[in-house]
Amino acid sequence: MKYYKYSQLVKEYNVSDRTVRNWVEASLKGKVDLKLHEAKGRYYVANSVANNAILESLADHGKKYRNSRSSKSVEPNRSFYETYSPDQVVDIINSLEKNHELPWDYTYFGNSAEYWDEYLMELHAAKNGNVITNSIETLKLNYAYLDALIEKYDHVNVVNVCVGNNIAIHDLLSRIKASGKLNRFIAADISKDMLDVAGRNIDRWFSGSVKMERCLIDIKRQSLGLITTDSNVSTGENTVNIFILAAAVIANFDSQQRVLENLNASMSKDDILITTDKRDTPQSRSFFDFNTKNDTSMIGFRRKDLLDKLGVEDSFYDVIQEFNESLRRKILRIVLKVDLTLNFEVLGKRKEVYFEKGTSIMMWFAHSPTDAEFVKILENSGLELLMSAQSLDQELMLTISKPRVSQSTSRNPI
Ligand SMILES: C[S@@+](CC[C@H](N)C(=O)[O-])C[C@H]1O[C@@H](n2cnc3c(N)ncnc32)[C@H](O)[C@@H]1O
Repeated sequence: MKYYKYSQLVKEYNVSDRTVRNWVEASLKGKVDLKLHEAKGRYYVANSVANNAILESLADHGKKYRNSRSSKSVEPNRSFYETYSPDQVVDIINSLEKNHELPWDYTYFGNSAEYWDEYLMELHAAKNGNVITNSIETLKLNYAYLDALIEKYDHVNVVNVCVGNNIAIHDLLSRIKASGKLNRFIAADISKDMLDVAGRNIDRWFSGSVKMERCLIDIKRQSLGLITTDSNVSTGENTVNIFILAAAVIANFDSQQRVLENLNASMSKDDILITTDKRDTPQSRSFFDFNTKNDTSMIGFRRKDLLDKLGVEDSFYDVIQEFNESLRRKILRIVLKVDLTLNFEVLGKRKEVYFEKGTSIMMWFAHSPTDAEFVKILENSGLELLMSAQSLDQELMLTISKPRVSQSTSRNPI
Protein backbone atom coordinates (compact mmCIF):
# COMPACT_ATOMS: atom_id res chain seq x y z
CA MET A 1 0.00 0.00 0.00
CA LYS A 2 1.22 3.49 -0.80
CA TYR A 3 1.65 5.68 2.25
CA TYR A 4 3.04 9.08 3.23
CA LYS A 5 6.28 9.62 5.08
CA TYR A 6 5.78 11.99 8.03
CA SER A 7 8.08 14.52 6.37
CA GLN A 8 5.88 14.52 3.24
CA LEU A 9 2.80 15.43 5.27
CA VAL A 10 4.75 18.11 7.17
CA LYS A 11 5.61 19.79 3.88
CA GLU A 12 2.34 19.14 2.05
CA TYR A 13 0.08 20.46 4.81
CA ASN A 14 2.51 22.93 6.36
CA VAL A 15 2.17 21.44 9.83
CA SER A 16 4.71 20.28 12.38
CA ASP A 17 5.95 16.73 12.85
CA ARG A 18 4.13 16.75 16.21
CA THR A 19 0.80 17.45 14.51
CA VAL A 20 1.25 14.53 12.10
CA ARG A 21 1.97 12.26 15.07
CA ASN A 22 -1.17 13.57 16.77
CA TRP A 23 -3.23 12.74 13.67
CA VAL A 24 -1.85 9.19 13.61
CA GLU A 25 -2.46 8.73 17.35
CA ALA A 26 -6.01 10.07 17.03
CA SER A 27 -6.64 7.63 14.17
CA LEU A 28 -5.32 4.71 16.20
CA LYS A 29 -7.73 5.68 19.00
CA GLY A 30 -10.57 5.86 16.46
CA LYS A 31 -11.05 9.61 16.96
CA VAL A 32 -10.15 10.37 13.35
CA ASP A 33 -11.01 8.29 10.29
CA LEU A 34 -7.61 8.20 8.58
CA LYS A 35 -6.72 4.82 7.10
CA LEU A 36 -3.29 3.81 8.41
CA HIS A 37 -0.58 1.52 7.08
CA GLU A 38 1.74 -0.38 9.42
CA ALA A 39 5.40 -0.91 8.50
CA LYS A 40 7.94 -2.34 10.95
CA GLY A 41 5.81 -1.49 13.97
CA ARG A 42 5.24 2.12 12.88
CA TYR A 43 2.01 3.57 11.58
CA TYR A 44 1.80 5.79 8.52
CA VAL A 45 -1.07 7.59 6.79
CA ALA A 46 -2.14 5.70 3.66
CA ASN A 47 -2.02 7.63 0.39
CA SER A 48 -5.66 7.44 -0.68
CA VAL A 49 -8.27 9.83 -2.05
CA ALA A 50 -10.42 9.44 1.09
CA ASN A 51 -7.43 10.17 3.36
CA ASN A 52 -6.48 13.23 1.33
CA ALA A 53 -9.87 14.83 1.96
CA ILE A 54 -9.61 14.10 5.72
CA LEU A 55 -6.02 15.44 5.85
CA GLU A 56 -7.16 18.62 4.12
CA SER A 57 -9.90 19.24 6.68
CA LEU A 58 -7.62 18.36 9.65
CA ALA A 59 -5.05 20.92 8.44
CA ASP A 60 -7.78 23.56 7.88
CA HIS A 61 -9.30 22.87 11.29
CA GLY A 62 -5.85 23.31 12.92
CA LYS A 63 -5.36 26.67 11.22
CA LYS A 64 -8.79 27.96 12.34
CA TYR A 65 -8.13 27.08 15.96
CA ARG A 66 -4.62 28.44 16.25
CA ASN A 67 -3.97 29.53 19.78
CA SER A 68 -3.89 33.30 19.40
CA ARG A 69 -1.60 33.75 22.42
CA SER A 70 1.19 31.78 20.78
CA SER A 71 0.41 33.03 17.31
CA LYS A 72 2.49 35.76 15.67
CA SER A 73 1.88 37.53 12.41
CA VAL A 74 4.77 39.62 11.04
CA GLU A 75 5.76 41.57 7.95
CA PRO A 76 9.23 41.81 6.43
CA ASN A 77 10.67 45.31 6.91
CA ARG A 78 11.60 47.88 4.27
CA SER A 79 15.26 46.85 4.34
CA PHE A 80 14.19 43.30 3.28
CA TYR A 81 12.51 44.61 0.13
CA GLU A 82 15.43 46.99 -0.55
CA THR A 83 17.94 44.16 -0.21
CA TYR A 84 16.28 41.48 -2.33
CA SER A 85 14.86 41.70 -5.85
CA PRO A 86 11.23 40.56 -6.45
CA ASP A 87 12.61 37.34 -8.02
CA GLN A 88 14.68 36.68 -4.93
CA VAL A 89 11.70 37.38 -2.66
CA VAL A 90 9.69 34.81 -4.66
CA ASP A 91 12.60 32.36 -4.37
CA ILE A 92 12.66 32.86 -0.58
CA ILE A 93 8.85 32.32 -0.37
CA ASN A 94 9.01 29.19 -2.55
CA SER A 95 11.84 27.73 -0.54
CA LEU A 96 10.08 28.42 2.77
CA GLU A 97 6.86 26.84 1.49
CA LYS A 98 8.32 23.88 -0.39
CA ASN A 99 11.34 22.97 1.72
CA HIS A 100 10.85 24.78 5.04
CA GLU A 101 14.20 26.33 4.31
CA LEU A 102 15.52 29.90 4.36
CA PRO A 103 18.16 29.70 1.62
CA TRP A 104 21.68 30.33 3.00
CA ASP A 105 22.56 31.98 -0.33
CA TYR A 106 20.70 35.12 0.78
CA THR A 107 22.72 35.60 3.96
CA TYR A 108 25.65 37.44 2.30
CA PHE A 109 23.66 40.55 1.38
CA GLY A 110 23.72 44.07 2.87
CA ASN A 111 25.70 44.41 6.13
CA SER A 112 26.29 40.66 6.18
CA ALA A 113 28.82 41.01 3.34
CA GLU A 114 30.97 43.28 5.54
CA TYR A 115 30.52 40.87 8.45
CA TRP A 116 31.68 37.96 6.29
CA ASP A 117 34.75 39.93 5.21
CA GLU A 118 35.61 40.54 8.88
CA TYR A 119 35.10 36.86 9.71
CA LEU A 120 37.28 35.60 6.83
CA MET A 121 40.01 38.11 7.77
CA GLU A 122 39.92 36.74 11.34
CA LEU A 123 40.31 33.20 9.96
CA HIS A 124 43.19 34.37 7.78
CA ALA A 125 44.98 35.87 10.78
CA ALA A 126 44.30 32.86 13.06
CA LYS A 127 47.16 30.65 14.23
CA ASN A 128 45.18 27.42 14.05
CA GLY A 129 44.46 25.78 10.71
CA ASN A 130 41.05 26.64 9.25
CA VAL A 131 39.34 26.56 5.88
CA ILE A 132 41.05 29.80 4.70
CA THR A 133 44.58 29.13 5.97
CA ASN A 134 44.36 25.50 4.81
CA SER A 135 43.12 26.54 1.35
CA ILE A 136 46.02 28.97 0.96
CA GLU A 137 48.62 26.56 2.36
CA THR A 138 47.48 23.59 0.25
CA LEU A 139 47.37 25.71 -2.91
CA LYS A 140 50.93 26.87 -2.18
CA LEU A 141 52.12 23.29 -1.64
CA ASN A 142 50.85 22.48 -5.13
CA TYR A 143 52.01 25.54 -7.05
CA ALA A 144 54.61 23.47 -8.93
CA TYR A 145 51.84 21.31 -10.39
CA LEU A 146 49.71 24.33 -11.30
CA ASP A 147 52.71 26.08 -12.88
CA ALA A 148 53.31 23.01 -15.05
CA LEU A 149 49.65 23.02 -16.14
CA ILE A 150 49.71 26.66 -17.26
CA GLU A 151 53.30 26.77 -18.51
CA LYS A 152 52.43 26.40 -22.19
CA TYR A 153 49.93 29.29 -22.14
CA ASP A 154 50.75 32.97 -22.60
CA HIS A 155 47.59 34.19 -20.86
CA VAL A 156 45.59 33.08 -17.82
CA ASN A 157 42.05 34.15 -16.94
CA VAL A 158 40.99 33.54 -13.35
CA VAL A 159 37.29 33.10 -12.53
CA ASN A 160 36.56 33.07 -8.78
CA VAL A 161 33.09 31.60 -8.31
CA CYS A 162 31.22 32.29 -5.03
CA VAL A 163 33.83 34.88 -4.31
CA GLY A 164 33.63 35.50 -0.57
CA ASN A 165 36.13 38.30 0.05
CA ASN A 166 38.86 36.93 -2.33
CA ILE A 167 41.31 36.30 0.51
CA ALA A 168 41.54 32.55 -0.21
CA ILE A 169 42.95 33.22 -3.68
CA HIS A 170 44.90 36.43 -3.01
CA ASP A 171 48.26 34.64 -3.03
CA LEU A 172 47.44 32.57 -6.13
CA LEU A 173 46.29 35.67 -8.01
CA SER A 174 49.45 37.58 -6.98
CA ARG A 175 51.57 34.73 -8.28
CA ILE A 176 49.82 34.60 -11.66
CA LYS A 177 50.02 38.40 -11.87
CA ALA A 178 53.75 38.32 -11.09
CA SER A 179 54.26 35.78 -13.91
CA GLY A 180 52.93 38.43 -16.32
CA LYS A 181 50.25 36.01 -17.61
CA LEU A 182 47.16 37.36 -15.84
CA ASN A 183 44.68 38.44 -18.51
CA ARG A 184 41.23 38.78 -16.90
CA PHE A 185 40.08 38.33 -13.33
CA ILE A 186 36.35 37.67 -13.00
CA ALA A 187 34.37 37.27 -9.77
CA ALA A 188 30.97 35.56 -9.95
CA ASP A 189 28.55 35.71 -7.04
CA ILE A 190 24.85 35.93 -6.13
CA SER A 191 25.41 38.96 -3.88
CA LYS A 192 26.21 42.41 -5.29
CA ASP A 193 27.32 43.45 -1.81
CA MET A 194 29.78 40.55 -1.55
CA LEU A 195 31.14 41.46 -5.01
CA ASP A 196 31.61 45.05 -3.79
CA VAL A 197 33.55 43.88 -0.73
CA ALA A 198 35.64 41.46 -2.83
CA GLY A 199 36.36 44.17 -5.44
CA ARG A 200 37.38 46.65 -2.75
CA ASN A 201 39.91 44.13 -1.41
CA ILE A 202 41.37 43.60 -4.89
CA ASP A 203 41.75 47.38 -5.36
CA ARG A 204 43.47 47.62 -1.97
CA TRP A 205 45.81 44.66 -2.46
CA PHE A 206 46.80 45.42 -6.07
CA SER A 207 46.49 49.24 -6.04
CA GLY A 208 44.45 49.22 -9.22
CA SER A 209 46.81 46.98 -11.22
CA VAL A 210 44.26 44.12 -11.22
CA LYS A 211 40.76 44.91 -12.37
CA MET A 212 38.01 42.65 -10.99
CA GLU A 213 35.16 42.07 -13.44
CA ARG A 214 31.82 41.39 -11.72
CA CYS A 215 29.32 38.74 -12.70
CA LEU A 216 26.04 38.50 -10.75
CA ILE A 217 24.87 34.92 -10.95
CA ASP A 218 22.98 32.22 -9.05
CA ILE A 219 25.29 29.30 -9.76
CA LYS A 220 22.63 26.78 -8.62
CA ARG A 221 20.50 27.77 -11.57
CA GLN A 222 22.76 29.41 -14.13
CA SER A 223 25.88 28.60 -16.01
CA LEU A 224 28.38 31.42 -16.46
CA GLY A 225 27.83 31.08 -20.18
CA LEU A 226 30.87 31.52 -22.37
CA ILE A 227 32.17 34.14 -19.97
CA THR A 228 35.75 34.08 -21.17
CA THR A 229 35.06 33.63 -24.88
CA ASP A 230 35.93 37.21 -25.87
CA SER A 231 39.39 37.03 -24.41
CA ASN A 232 40.00 33.54 -25.83
CA VAL A 233 39.10 34.83 -29.28
CA SER A 234 41.35 37.87 -28.96
CA THR A 235 44.30 35.94 -27.52
CA GLY A 236 43.83 32.83 -29.63
CA GLU A 237 44.74 29.39 -28.36
CA ASN A 238 47.10 30.82 -25.83
CA THR A 239 44.71 31.40 -22.96
CA VAL A 240 43.71 29.03 -20.21
CA ASN A 241 40.84 29.72 -17.80
CA ILE A 242 41.19 28.75 -14.16
CA PHE A 243 37.83 28.43 -12.41
CA ILE A 244 37.92 28.36 -8.62
CA LEU A 245 35.41 27.22 -5.98
CA ALA A 246 37.36 27.86 -2.80
CA ALA A 247 36.92 27.47 0.93
CA ALA A 248 34.22 24.82 1.31
CA VAL A 249 31.48 26.61 -0.57
CA ILE A 250 30.48 23.60 -2.71
CA ALA A 251 29.34 21.68 0.40
CA ASN A 252 26.49 24.15 0.95
CA PHE A 253 24.66 23.43 -2.29
CA ASP A 254 21.84 20.92 -2.29
CA SER A 255 23.02 19.56 -5.62
CA GLN A 256 26.78 19.82 -5.82
CA GLN A 257 26.64 18.04 -9.16
CA ARG A 258 24.36 20.68 -10.71
CA VAL A 259 26.72 23.49 -9.64
CA LEU A 260 29.72 21.66 -11.08
CA GLU A 261 27.80 20.93 -14.30
CA ASN A 262 26.96 24.63 -14.57
CA LEU A 263 30.66 25.45 -14.27
CA ASN A 264 31.68 22.72 -16.69
CA ALA A 265 29.27 24.21 -19.26
CA SER A 266 31.45 27.36 -19.30
CA MET A 267 34.78 25.54 -19.60
CA SER A 268 36.87 24.80 -22.68
CA LYS A 269 38.51 21.40 -22.87
CA ASP A 270 41.84 22.50 -21.37
CA ASP A 271 40.44 24.79 -18.69
CA ILE A 272 41.03 23.98 -15.04
CA LEU A 273 38.73 23.85 -12.02
CA ILE A 274 40.21 24.16 -8.54
CA THR A 275 38.14 23.33 -5.45
CA THR A 276 39.07 23.40 -1.78
CA ASP A 277 36.64 21.77 0.60
CA LYS A 278 36.49 20.57 4.18
CA ARG A 279 37.01 16.82 4.53
CA ASP A 280 34.62 14.63 6.52
CA THR A 281 36.45 14.46 9.87
CA PRO A 282 35.30 14.49 13.53
CA GLN A 283 36.51 18.10 13.74
CA SER A 284 34.68 19.30 10.63
CA ARG A 285 31.47 17.51 11.72
CA SER A 286 31.39 19.44 14.98
CA PHE A 287 32.39 22.86 13.61
CA PHE A 288 29.60 25.45 13.69
CA ASP A 289 31.48 28.60 14.67
CA PHE A 290 30.93 31.07 11.82
CA ASN A 291 30.98 34.09 14.12
CA THR A 292 33.45 36.92 14.45
CA LYS A 293 35.04 37.16 17.89
CA ASN A 294 32.46 39.70 19.12
CA ASP A 295 29.49 37.54 18.17
CA THR A 296 28.65 34.61 20.44
CA SER A 297 25.13 33.88 19.19
CA MET A 298 24.31 30.34 18.06
CA ILE A 299 22.39 31.57 15.04
CA GLY A 300 25.18 33.91 13.84
CA PHE A 301 24.99 37.50 12.58
CA ARG A 302 24.15 36.75 8.93
CA ARG A 303 21.24 34.42 9.63
CA LYS A 304 19.92 36.64 12.42
CA ASP A 305 20.10 39.64 10.09
CA LEU A 306 17.87 37.87 7.54
CA LEU A 307 15.42 36.71 10.24
CA ASP A 308 15.31 40.28 11.63
CA LYS A 309 14.57 41.62 8.15
CA LEU A 310 11.69 39.13 7.90
CA GLY A 311 10.35 40.34 11.26
CA VAL A 312 11.08 37.02 13.01
CA GLU A 313 12.13 37.89 16.57
CA ASP A 314 14.66 35.85 18.61
CA SER A 315 11.94 34.88 21.10
CA PHE A 316 9.99 33.08 18.33
CA TYR A 317 12.52 30.27 17.88
CA ASP A 318 15.11 27.91 19.36
CA VAL A 319 18.33 27.23 17.47
CA ILE A 320 19.50 23.65 16.82
CA GLN A 321 22.96 22.66 15.53
CA GLU A 322 23.46 19.00 14.67
CA PHE A 323 25.19 16.46 12.49
CA ASN A 324 22.54 14.33 10.79
CA GLU A 325 24.05 10.87 10.25
CA SER A 326 21.46 9.62 7.77
CA LEU A 327 21.69 12.73 5.56
CA ARG A 328 25.45 13.05 6.18
CA ARG A 329 24.91 16.78 6.65
CA LYS A 330 25.76 19.36 9.26
CA ILE A 331 22.56 21.24 9.89
CA LEU A 332 21.65 24.52 11.55
CA ARG A 333 17.92 25.01 11.92
CA ILE A 334 15.42 26.90 13.99
CA VAL A 335 12.37 25.38 15.66
CA LEU A 336 9.41 27.73 16.02
CA LYS A 337 8.05 28.34 19.52
CA VAL A 338 4.97 30.08 18.08
CA ASP A 339 2.52 29.70 15.20
CA LEU A 340 4.03 32.10 12.68
CA THR A 341 2.55 33.92 9.70
CA LEU A 342 4.88 35.83 7.39
CA ASN A 343 3.01 38.41 5.33
CA PHE A 344 4.97 39.12 2.17
CA GLU A 345 4.14 41.68 -0.47
CA VAL A 346 5.55 40.81 -3.84
CA LEU A 347 4.88 42.35 -7.25
CA GLY A 348 1.91 44.24 -5.76
CA LYS A 349 0.27 41.11 -4.32
CA ARG A 350 0.09 39.88 -0.73
CA LYS A 351 1.35 36.42 0.03
CA GLU A 352 0.89 34.71 3.39
CA VAL A 353 3.25 31.96 4.51
CA TYR A 354 2.13 30.10 7.62
CA PHE A 355 4.13 27.79 9.90
CA GLU A 356 2.76 25.86 12.83
CA LYS A 357 4.48 26.01 16.21
CA GLY A 358 7.13 23.27 16.36
CA THR A 359 7.99 23.59 12.65
CA SER A 360 11.66 23.29 11.88
CA ILE A 361 13.12 25.74 9.36
CA MET A 362 16.47 24.93 7.80
CA MET A 363 18.89 27.86 7.97
CA TRP A 364 22.11 26.27 6.72
CA PHE A 365 23.57 22.87 5.92
CA ALA A 366 26.83 21.40 4.67
CA HIS A 367 27.27 18.01 3.04
CA SER A 368 30.04 15.78 4.31
CA PRO A 369 30.93 13.50 1.41
CA THR A 370 33.97 11.27 1.75
CA ASP A 371 36.93 12.13 -0.50
CA ALA A 372 35.95 9.29 -2.84
CA GLU A 373 32.32 10.44 -2.96
CA PHE A 374 33.38 13.97 -3.86
CA VAL A 375 35.60 12.70 -6.68
CA LYS A 376 32.60 10.69 -7.93
CA ILE A 377 30.49 13.89 -7.94
CA LEU A 378 33.21 15.63 -9.99
CA GLU A 379 33.20 12.72 -12.43
CA ASN A 380 29.41 12.66 -12.66
CA SER A 381 29.58 16.37 -13.55
CA GLY A 382 31.70 15.56 -16.62
CA LEU A 383 35.00 16.49 -14.98
CA GLU A 384 38.18 14.48 -14.79
CA LEU A 385 40.30 14.61 -11.66
CA LEU A 386 43.91 15.61 -12.41
CA MET A 387 45.14 15.70 -8.84
CA SER A 388 43.94 15.87 -5.26
CA ALA A 389 45.83 16.72 -2.09
CA GLN A 390 45.06 17.03 1.59
CA SER A 391 46.12 19.91 3.80
CA LEU A 392 48.89 18.95 6.22
CA ASP A 393 46.36 18.71 9.07
CA GLN A 394 44.16 16.51 6.82
CA GLU A 395 41.10 18.73 7.36
CA LEU A 396 40.87 20.01 3.76
CA MET A 397 40.98 18.51 0.29
CA LEU A 398 42.18 20.40 -2.77
CA THR A 399 41.15 19.09 -6.18
CA ILE A 400 42.25 20.14 -9.65
CA SER A 401 40.17 18.84 -12.54
CA LYS A 402 39.38 19.55 -16.16
CA PRO A 403 36.46 18.70 -18.45
CA ARG A 404 36.47 15.07 -19.54
CA VAL A 405 36.97 14.83 -23.29
CA SER A 406 34.79 12.31 -25.07
CA GLN A 407 36.83 9.34 -26.33
CA SER A 408 34.45 8.42 -29.14
CA THR A 409 35.32 9.75 -32.61
CA SER A 410 31.74 10.69 -33.37
CA ARG A 411 28.87 11.37 -31.00
CA ASN A 412 25.85 9.17 -31.51
CA PRO A 413 22.80 11.09 -32.66
CA ILE A 414 19.92 10.50 -30.25
C1 LIG B 1 31.02 30.59 2.24
S1 LIG B 1 31.39 31.90 1.10
C2 LIG B 1 32.40 31.01 -0.02
C3 LIG B 1 33.81 31.09 0.33
C4 LIG B 1 34.60 31.87 -0.68
N1 LIG B 1 34.79 31.12 -1.91
C5 LIG B 1 35.92 32.22 -0.08
O1 LIG B 1 36.92 31.91 -0.71
O2 LIG B 1 35.96 32.76 1.01
C6 LIG B 1 29.91 31.97 0.25
C7 LIG B 1 29.93 32.82 -1.02
O3 LIG B 1 29.11 32.19 -1.98
C8 LIG B 1 28.18 33.14 -2.49
N2 LIG B 1 26.98 32.42 -2.91
C9 LIG B 1 26.09 31.79 -2.11
N3 LIG B 1 25.13 31.20 -2.86
C10 LIG B 1 25.42 31.47 -4.15
C11 LIG B 1 24.80 31.14 -5.38
N4 LIG B 1 23.67 30.41 -5.42
N5 LIG B 1 25.36 31.56 -6.53
C12 LIG B 1 26.50 32.32 -6.50
N6 LIG B 1 27.13 32.67 -5.35
C13 LIG B 1 26.61 32.25 -4.19
C14 LIG B 1 27.98 34.09 -1.33
O4 LIG B 1 27.42 35.32 -1.71
C15 LIG B 1 29.40 34.21 -0.77
O5 LIG B 1 30.17 35.14 -1.45
